[in-house]
Amino acid sequence: MKWLVTGGAGFIGSAFIRLALREGWAARVVNLDKLTYAGNLENLAEVQEDARYRFVHGDICDTALVARLLEEERPEAIVHFAAESHVDRSILGPAAFVETNVRGTFSLLEAARAAGVERFVHVSTDEVYGSIEEPHEADETWPLRPSSPYSASKAGSDLLALSYFATFRLPVIVTRASNNYGPYQFPEKLIPLMISNALEDKPLPIYGDGMQVRDWLYVEDHCRAIRAALEKGEPGEIYNIGGSRALPNRRVVEMILDILGKPYSLMQAVKDRPGHDRRYAITTEKLEKISGWRPAVPFEEGLERTIRWYQENAGWVARVKSGEYLRYYEQNYAGR
Ligand code: NAD
Ligand code: DAU
Repeated sequence: MKWLVTGGAGFIGSAFIRLALREGWAARVVNLDKLTYAGNLENLAEVQEDARYRFVHGDICDTALVARLLEEERPEAIVHFAAESHVDRSILGPAAFVETNVRGTFSLLEAARAAGVERFVHVSTDEVYGSIEEPHEADETWPLRPSSPYSASKAGSDLLALSYFATFRLPVIVTRASNNYGPYQFPEKLIPLMISNALEDKPLPIYGDGMQVRDWLYVEDHCRAIRAALEKGEPGEIYNIGGSRALPNRRVVEMILDILGKPYSLMQAVKDRPGHDRRYAITTEKLEKISGWRPAVPFEEGLERTIRWYQENAGWVARVKSGEYLRYYEQNYAGR
């Protein structure tokens, strides 16, 4: 199989490409990425000389470029990760989210339809369901109630993708995963932000009371689930992908501080995120039933591995925490 991966220089896309080539999931992988602040070719150093791999610098909104690429490469499947992915940034500036997540997905769907692609995996998120009241867990039929411009743009793109199956029979599969963590995650998201600030003895900003619940999924478990959905999933279907490890944010940060031997006094309560979802919770039985996939990495082990990676890759962290990152940090956290 030949695959086109979009957004493969980001956190999850790069993990997917590294695993796919390391374990021979595909004969060829073409990576189309715009290299926004979140895209980093250092994440792909392991595969850059691999003859089965090609990088193309470009925007998924550029329909002509995507059409040319599909004509040239004729991939059987598209695995679509490319997105603006951070909720706080979608509050500071929603336009890029509508552009890439909605219009970009539309442009890809159009090109995929014209090229007759055999599988289109649209990588989405459990955030489209919005906050889930205890004791419920959302299955794939749960109503969509997105709270942020990010999750609304993802919900919009999910519906567009599914409409291409209903209307044009484009073989679309939608996956909705919970919070990922692991090596190479941009230090704007909770876990890498807390690790890197704690390593520098900087304050750890906890939004509101810190009792919001997220379900943590190790990034490689997510990648294996996407492969399972691609190979075993039914076109037109949605598959939730959860980590089966729900924890309040404050507890996650305490675990990080315990592993690093740093004091809890580094935690600093700050003004809450507007529209902040209180709790995410999903069931993953549908994918488990068709593929046997289960999350394999326990949270404690995944967290230790992740912390070790950030300790051993201080150069990577220093490079991504310069320039644009410092401006974003100031904008998001100053005066909070
Ligand atoms: P990320 O922000 O780390 O990476 C996004 C990548 O997409 C970057 O390489 C960026 O350069 C690229 N990109 C952005 N706009 C583009 C465009 N217009 N054209 C081409 N490339 C573009 O994101 P991530 O955390 O790896 O998330 C990947 C996907 O998984 C997203 O669709 C996200 O919604 C979804 N997801 C993420 C999580 C999570 O916890 N991180 C959980 C569930 C689902
Ligand atoms: O649920 C899947 C989603 O998980 C993905 O679709 C998104 O791409 C991904 O960013 C993530 O969204 P969250 O908003 O849940 O992730 P984030 O890491 O930004 O925040 C996790 C929780 O931690 C959330 O309740 C907000 C809180 N938080 C976050 C930051 C950055 C803090 O308390 N302080 C912080 O500084």
